[in-house]
Amino acid sequence: MEILGIDIGFGFTKATDGKRDLVFKSVLGEATDIQFREEMIAAGDVDENHLQVEIDGKSYFVGEMAERQSNVRFFTLDQAQFIAKFAKVFALAAAAQLVKGFVPINLVTGLPIGYYREFKDELAKLLIGEHKVTLIDASGKREEKSISVNKVRVVPQPFGSLFNLMLNDLGEMADKRLVKDKIGIIDVGFRTSDYTISDKMRYSERGSRTTDSGIARAFNVIATKLRENSGVNIELYRLYEAIDNGKIKIRGKEYDLKALTEQIFSQLATSIANEVDRLWVDDWDIDAMIITGGGGSVLAKHLKPLLNGVIIETDPEHDMRLYNVRGYRKFGQHLWARGNAPQDPETKATK
Ligand SMILES: Nc1ncnc2c1ncn2[C@@H]1O[C@H](COP(=O)(O)OP(=O)(O)OP(=O)(O)O)[C@@H](O)[C@H]1O
Ligand SMILES: [Mg+2]
Repeated sequence: MEILGIDIGFGFTKATDGKRDLVFKSVLGEATDIQFREEMIAAGDVDENHLQVEIDGKSYFVGEMAERQSNVRFFTLDQAQFIAKFAKVFALAAAAQLVKGFVPINLVTGLPIGYYREFKDELAKLLIGEHKVTLIDASGKREEKSISVNKVRVVPQPFGSLFNLMLNDLGEMADKRLVKDKIGIIDVGFRTSDYTISDKMRYSERGSRTTDSGIARAFNVIATKLRENSGVNIELYRLYEAIDNGKIKIRGKEYDLKALTEQIFSQLATSIANEVDRLWVDDWDIDAMIITGGGGSVLAKHLKPLLNGVIIETDPEHDMRLYNVRGYRKFGQHLWARGNAPQDPETKATK
């Protein structure tokens, strides 16, 4: 039995088996027939972003492949639609790359706090059971996989990051302090910001909420400015690299994004800090806070000075988009392959 963690985010799908991590954009596209698959001049490396899958008789490009090659692309920031149309394809596209032939797998995945109760059974039901998935590589070669999902556990997303800090790779308790303390977790993602409190490993309903203060809000403002200046409507998921580089070239003209990005990120950090202050107003006894999520890493420098309390340092070298999914896998290891018990947040959250 293999244990996988899969974090199906609005921005990126992340997955790990404990040895290998996968990240691809949560963009789906219709597969098109590519008549000329070879690179014009071989760059040497295999195309890491090539991802084409066939599921339930439909063929899709996934991630950057969809972004580059599909004429019809699907991308959503609506939770119900995300679960109904996207979650299964992203999860299976990730799982198919990680598992070999016919090994049964157990999965841990998550949902934003605000949608946890409503969608957790639906999500588990979609994923459990036997799935036929065909992976098609860059040369057109097909590889059929039968993915047999035995067990699925859905946890509130930010708990992944807590498990990641608390458990070691074997699913055993590595940091006992986190079990005894009251920890606030701030998970800034692409669409959502998720806040939660773990009080001696107990989930606090009062201290938990999902808001739409994700990075997409900042990207929207930047995209609007760019549209005003260039006349081109840029899809949000095409902005990551540009914002990271501080500039974008549109129809041959370069636009500097540094000053604008700093200003907009600082505003977003202020809204997040205000949401934290309001949400945790009665929880002045929090021992420490964790900032996590890919958005957490880009906002950290603006956000840290605005938060009132101790912040647990995380390694800036690590890709924070992966914190939840690494924790999911460790939790799976803990549940199904040993370790001694942190409380299961699911039972608390459903009370
Ligand atoms: N190496 C990177 N490449 C792309 N984006 C990055 C990178 N590092 C950090 N980011 C930031 O991470 C954000 C996405 O974070 P994350 O993957 O945690 O979101 P998500 O889980 O997909 O979204 P949500 O939680 O709302 O569903 C991006 O908006 C970007 O600003
Ligand atoms: Mg997320």
